[in-house]
This record gives sequence, structure tokens and C-alpha cells, in this order.
Amino acid sequence: MTDKTFYIETFGCQMNAHDSEKVIGTLVHSGYTQVESAESAELVVYNTCSIRDKAEQKVFHRLDQFKRAAGKGKVFAVIGCVAQQEGERIFEKAPHVSLVAGSASYTKLPEMLVQLEAGARRVTGLSLDTEETFDTPFTRRDNPHRAYITIIEGCDKSCAYCVVPFTRGPERSRTSESVMREATELAQAGYTDVQLLGQNVNSYRDPSPAGWDFATLLDRVGRIPGIRRVRFTTSHPRDFVKEIIDAIDDNPALCNHVHLPVQSGSSRVLSRMQRLYTRDEYMRRIEWMKNARRNIAITTDIIVGFPGETEQDFQATLDLLEQVEYDSLFSFKYSPRPNTAALAMEDKVSEEEKTRRIMIVNEKQRAIQIRRNSELIGTIEEVMVEGRNEALGQWIGRTSQNRTLNFTRLDSDGESLTGKYVPVRVTRAGPNSLVGEGVMSVV
Ligand code: 5AD
Ligand code: SF4
Repeated sequence: MTDKTFYIETFGCQMNAHDSEKVIGTLVHSGYTQVESAESAELVVYNTCSIRDKAEQKVFHRLDQFKRAAGKGKVFAVIGCVAQQEGERIFEKAPHVSLVAGSASYTKLPEMLVQLEAGARRVTGLSLDTEETFDTPFTRRDNPHRAYITIIEGCDKSCAYCVVPFTRGPERSRTSESVMREATELAQAGYTDVQLLGQNVNSYRDPSPAGWDFATLLDRVGRIPGIRRVRFTTSHPRDFVKEIIDAIDDNPALCNHVHLPVQSGSSRVLSRMQRLYTRDEYMRRIEWMKNARRNIAITTDIIVGFPGETEQDFQATLDLLEQVEYDSLFSFKYSPRPNTAALAMEDKVSEEEKTRRIMIVNEKQRAIQIRRNSELIGTIEEVMVEGRNEALGQWIGRTSQNRTLNFTRLDSDGESLTGKYVPVRVTRAGPNSLVGEGVMSVV
């Protein structure tokens, strides 16, 4: 490699998006320049996701497109969850790949790059046996106002459908000191909005003698001068404690939004999924939020068609949606994944039936969202401005509850509001967003 240019494409969740920011920083520090197309890059990196089969197939489609580029000086790297899951099999499926590395090996990225540059054809980083987290001072952040901070990597749960414990390895928490240092530096650099990341942030446990739990860390990050919004993702109901809600109630910088994936409304299915909670236990957590002083938005993930899910189980999920009235949700058809316990389960639900069920879920949720969003008409919400939609002549804003609220402001005279916090009166509501008018001056 002479030019040392790279192109990276990222699939999957926010953990992956943030891993890519760290990988980009590491590559730039190693002398590489990022380019905008795979065609013009010497090194092509795919940061992959294997949560569902569809996500996994994407990387193989991409690699297929470049089969003929092999041997013409282009080097391909597959990193992330598909890399960890498939390991050396990737070299068989796509012989033009030279580097396969899972996220637990990213601390070794500089060494692996040196091997690639020396012409090695098969470089791997596949060990999950690590105590380390991938902390780098070189993170290239995509957004100048909002920043991700990893607080815990890996997952120690064993949900019957999920690849993550196999692709991201065991839980490793960062010390509270290093998280606080990163958050303070971000605030000093002008970031006002931070998102704490982990596969299960609720099981965060400070490995240093301070021994902070998640609720303490969350509160402390929210008290750093300059930080105006703190979000966190993702949570596991089993480890979600009341102290988290108390922290939100007591600290206005903590966003009034909790994403609490339920997966199913049937305790029978939850038990088969090895989720470690019943519907009633989940509902207790929902009650904490509904009884909080702040108006906390609640969102979730739903899987339909898990093996053995009967019509009655499915109805229990629909009933749960009605009971909780989520502000938003992500719905998924169950997708069988390698290594997982559910793979061997009987009573598969047909593809056709999964499609029917997901459509019913989405239809029901759409009606709930229209209802909930229209309740906000006439209220004033503070938004963080994320950008501008020139075609509509609107600013794009996000509320603390994580709703998109697009708005017009007559007095903004070409001044950019991006990154600012602005009060907006809600005038219209749709199922997925709100529209409003800016009021008063910029805060
Ligand atoms: N099939 C379908 N959905 C899945 N999820 C995780 N694994 C699977 C799978 N095998 C969903 C869960 C999780 C979200 C990130 O993806 O709902 O919360
Ligand atoms: Fe995809 Fe899960 Fe890996 Fe994120 S952790 S990239 S969602 S498989």
C-alpha cells in the first residue's frame, strides 16, 4: 500500500457506529486518509452486524461486488460482529478478504495494520478472551454536538435468540474515572449531548475501588458543567433498578426517555427466550416510570414469531402494547442465529405468519403513536437542533423524549441554529414526528 487511503462502511447498532469512530481515529493516526468511495480506497473496511440474517447478508453482497478487484492492490477488511461470528470462514466465502477482526480485538488494530502493510494475506483478531475495552484518544466523532461514550462492552446474558454474547464477548466495564474524564473533555470541547453506550448499560459496575453502579455514573455524567443532555442505551429489564428513575427525576440533564426492550408480552415466551423476567416484573419497571415526576418517554423492541409463539402469546404482546402505550418501538421478525439456544427449538413460526404478526404490531403501534403525539399539540418542548431541511424550510429538532420536532422560526435570519437548544410550540403531530413553531429566543 502506497497511498494509504481507506473507506469504511458501518452496519448495525450505535455500538458499531461508535466503534467505527474509534477505528477511523486509529486508522488516521496510523497515517491513513479516509475517502468517500470503496472504488477509490486502498483499504476497504466493512464494520458488520449479525443480529439478524438480513444484516449479515449485506456484507457478503458488498464483498461480491468487489470480487474482481481482488489482486489489484485493494485490501479488504471485515470487522465487527459478522467477523467474530464467522471467523476464518470469511476467507473461504470471500477469498479477497485479508483482515477479519471482532470488536474485542480492536486494541490490536495498529499491529494488525502493520501486518497488512507488510503484505500479510490472512490477518485475524478473533480472541474473545480479553479484559480490555477499546479506549483510544483518537476517536473521530461524526457529530460536533452529540457524542457517544462507551461505558461497558460485551454481554453476560444468554437470551436464546441473540448472537451478541458470541460476537462481543463477556462484559467489561470501564473505570468511572476514565468515563468521567472522557465526558469532561467532551464538554470542554463543546459537546452538550452525550449518549452512554453498552449492550447492557444497567449492569455497569465500576472496576475501580470507587465501585459506582450505573445510576451513580449516569447522575455524575449529567452533572458535568456544559453537559445538557444524557441518554443511555441499551437496557435490560432484569438489571434496570429504581435508582435509575430516581436519578432521572433529580437531574434535569438526564433525558426523560428510557428504551427498555421487552421482546414479548407473554411470560411463557419470555421464559423460553431466557430473558430472566416475567411480564409482571417488567410492568413493575414501567410503573416506576409512569409514576415518576418527569414525563418519561418509553420505547421498546419486540420480536414476533419466536419459536413456539402461539396466537395467544402474540395477543399478550398486543395487549402489552396497549397497556404500556409506548412512545415508539422497533419490531423484528425472529431470525434464527448461529450458536444460539433458540436454533434447536421446535415449533417454528412460518415466515408468512411472522409477516402477518409484525404488520399487526406495527399497525397497532402506529395508532398509539398518533394518539400519544397528538397529546403534545399546544405544549412547548425544548429541542436540540440537529440540522435544517431546506426543501421544507424547517429546522430539525429533537426533544428530550427523543421525538423529532421539526419547526420554523421567523426570526432566525439565516443564522444557523444547529447545535442550539430552542423552545418550540408543537402545532401538528404525525405518527413519527411533530411539527412546530420556534418561540422566544435561543437558549
Ligand atoms: N431475531 C430477531 N430480532 C432479534 N433481535 C436480537 N436478536 C434477534 C433475532 N435473532 C432484536 C431484539 C433486540 C434488538 C437489538 O434486535 O429485539 O433488542
Ligand atoms: Fe449488530 Fe448486535 Fe453487533 Fe450491534 S452488537 S452490530 S446490533 S450484532
